Amino acid sequence: MSSLGLTAAHPTPHPTIDLSELGEPDLVAQMELARLPRHIAVIMDGNGRWARRRRLPRLAGHRAGASAVHEIVETGSRLHLKALTLFAFSTENWKRPQTEISTLMSLLREYLRKELAEIHRNNIRLQILGRYEQLPVEVRQDLDDAMRITSGNTGMVLNVALNYSARSEMVDTIQSIIARVQRGELRAEDVTERTVSENLSTGGLPDPDLLIRTSGEMRVSNFLLWQIAYADIYVTETCWPDFTRRHLLEAIIDFQKRERRYGGLGEHGA
Ligand code: FPP
Repeated sequence: MSSLGLTAAHPTPHPTIDLSELGEPDLVAQMELARLPRHIAVIMDGNGRWARRRRLPRLAGHRAGASAVHEIVETGSRLHLKALTLFAFSTENWKRPQTEISTLMSLLREYLRKELAEIHRNNIRLQILGRYEQLPVEVRQDLDDAMRITSGNTGMVLNVALNYSARSEMVDTIQSIIARVQRGELRAEDVTERTVSENLSTGGLPDPDLLIRTSGEMRVSNFLLWQIAYADIYVTETCWPDFTRRHLLEAIIDFQKRERRYGGLGEHGA
């Protein structure tokens, strides 16, 4: 970590990144493989606005949003990110109309049906963040299968945040730490930042170094609040359904420019 508290990027480029497979040669040429973020988190916002601008129903926006996920997961995996975390459904989203909730759940199941084989082939491990037990049973069954199938994979971890809020995650974490203290497994005075990090649902993963939010809102919306303490935040006006590999690479290049500027305190003696 730098003196400004920035999380370090990969120390060395991954030997097997094949740039030609990524396409977008103009952007790839600007990217430094030695400074890729290790963990990218995305607030996939703007499905509704995307649909409204096209005079389509909101649900069409969610459908287009679900289609956009494939390319970003594939690109993250090709770049050998350690983790990609997608905010798919917040604890507040239960307040939306029932038809919208059911559509989002169906889209998730459809995504798994269509993509699981490729996710597995790409050595990606699927994890769910959030209060899992409150999700509909059929969604849990599909997710259980997908997590079981990919559990031995050693490549990128794909975290899908579902029924997630950072504050409820923190409450759950505090409770699990208290329980360990009560069982005598841990002394209260030994609880450190590391204990908290390890007991969050992202335990074992590096914190996100880049948080991307689509569709222009300047908020973090109760997403990974502990974990994004030092993340760079990249907000784009592009709505999620229009967010492509190009946009992801642009966000990474912007992140690397900022990292170089901060690093410049040392590099340029400023
Ligand atoms: C925000 O758009 C987006 C969501 C609440 C859901 C995100 C879900 C998906 C992209 C599809 C399913 C996910 C996966 C992983 C397959 P919004 O409705 O809040 O947009 P608005 O702010 O423009 O109304």
